[in-house]
Amino acid sequence: MIPTSLTIARTDDEPLPVTHGRLLDFPDDPIACLRTLHARHGNICAMEEQGQRIYFIFGPEFNHQVLSDGVNFHSRFFAIRGSRNSPQRRLSSGLLSMNGETHKRNRRLVMDAFMKKAMLNYVPSIRTEVESMLAEWVPGTERDIARDMTDFMLRLTSSILFGLDEPEVAYKIGHMIDRWVHLNHELGMGAFVADMAIANRYGDLLSDAGELETEIVEMIRKRKANPTGSDALSILIGAHDSEGSISESELVGQAALMFAAAHMTTAHSLAWTLFLLAQHPRSMEKLHGEFTTQLDGGFPSMAQAERLTFTERTIKESMRILPASSYSQRVTAAAVELGPFQLAPGSGIIFSQFITHHMPGIYPDPEAFLPDRWLNINPSPYQYLPFGAGPRMCLGASLAMLIMKASIPTILQRFKLTVVPNSEVSGKVISTMLGPTTGVMMRIDQQDGRFESQPVRGNIHDMVDLREVMPVRRAA
Ligand code: HEM
Repeated sequence: MIPTSLTIARTDDEPLPVTHGRLLDFPDDPIACLRTLHARHGNICAMEEQGQRIYFIFGPEFNHQVLSDGVNFHSRFFAIRGSRNSPQRRLSSGLLSMNGETHKRNRRLVMDAFMKKAMLNYVPSIRTEVESMLAEWVPGTERDIARDMTDFMLRLTSSILFGLDEPEVAYKIGHMIDRWVHLNHELGMGAFVADMAIANRYGDLLSDAGELETEIVEMIRKRKANPTGSDALSILIGAHDSEGSISESELVGQAALMFAAAHMTTAHSLAWTLFLLAQHPRSMEKLHGEFTTQLDGGFPSMAQAERLTFTERTIKESMRILPASSYSQRVTAAAVELGPFQLAPGSGIIFSQFITHHMPGIYPDPEAFLPDRWLNINPSPYQYLPFGAGPRMCLGASLAMLIMKASIPTILQRFKLTVVPNSEVSGKVISTMLGPTTGVMMRIDQQDGRFESQPVRGNIHDMVDLREVMPVRRAA
């Protein structure tokens, strides 16, 4: 399953694990590139072009060294920061671009919005949005579940995070953020290599940033005029410590990051989980049994959701095999020794949840979707890290789990999902996030407890082994 399409040219006879190749191959197909590098060099290597190097680390030992050390390894999520006082600079100034004391302080301030007390306020919005999505679903029709999950998460995120109950505004900002994030991804490697095609598109990025910032500033203005107190933005506006409250320009960066980080990752995780379940009838049947015995057909209470142990294993396994966040990066803040390399300050390092989650030494038969493997394994935080690990682990992890544990049972108690036979299901990592790029077409029927997998095309077969799936048919 190691793709061979990369233009990685040669590995010199040097003692260090260095591959010479086009750095731009990485954003073109991150999973293929990561797999090739890992297969060729093991748990650490560098890729070099025109004297520019990026380092790649894989596996729990290096994950631990890099992710637990926020002093030597900084986060610089956005490679293109824009000039001082520019919209690009403000939009890319959220938590993932902060380090040191500034990061600690802002993380403390933002954290209030994700404490248990705040989360209780979000439950009614989850219920409203999942039920209004399902009200549109007509049995006997086909739907793109990936599109539905994205729209659901756009509406839910704007309601939970920003108190917006205007879906059109949510879609508009969501689409602008998607476009801006895509452009950052496409052009980000330009920070390392000279490429005219990339340089020519900086103007698009900067003008998109300007338009997006105008929308976000307007949203903040509305919220300041009428703070509800229960959405995350209102909590952020009201948050203060001995140094005062969060400034308007900091709010722009935090709001953009939260919106992007929350809606795409959770939408991708939901879409992958529903797809994997639909293609694994035995797991779907077991899940159905759990809902039948533990729930009463509707939206689960928080206490009920906590008791859905097979649902939890299913979500964990889905986020292992297809992690919505498949890689991320750090930059060295000082000279550091990493494996056989001596890194200068400012060196870029990529770590990958996808590769770590597919290591057979940690997860036997890693390409198989086996929720019950979680009955027998208890990986460390650096072996299983769908939400990252260390001092900048995802702040929204509990919220994302709550959304998934409440919405998946609500969807699947009412509707049976069957993948449209021979449809294409392909995915790609864009700006660190692994999501479906083809859509995920499903047939919607009233739930009848009878499940069947279907043949599908696409690069999903490079990431998950669907071959062992045995269709399960039961009499009505
Ligand atoms: C399934 C859904 C989600 C996944 C897979 C996910 C994944 C991640 C990962 C891997 C990181 C760490 C990145 C790194 O170390 O470079 C992260 C950070 C972050 N996430 Fe999430 N996330 C999800 C949902 C959310 C939600 C719902 C929010 C809510 C706003 C959120 C807000 C954040 C924030 C603010 C950070 C930055 C933390 C910091 O730098 O201190 N995420 N997320």
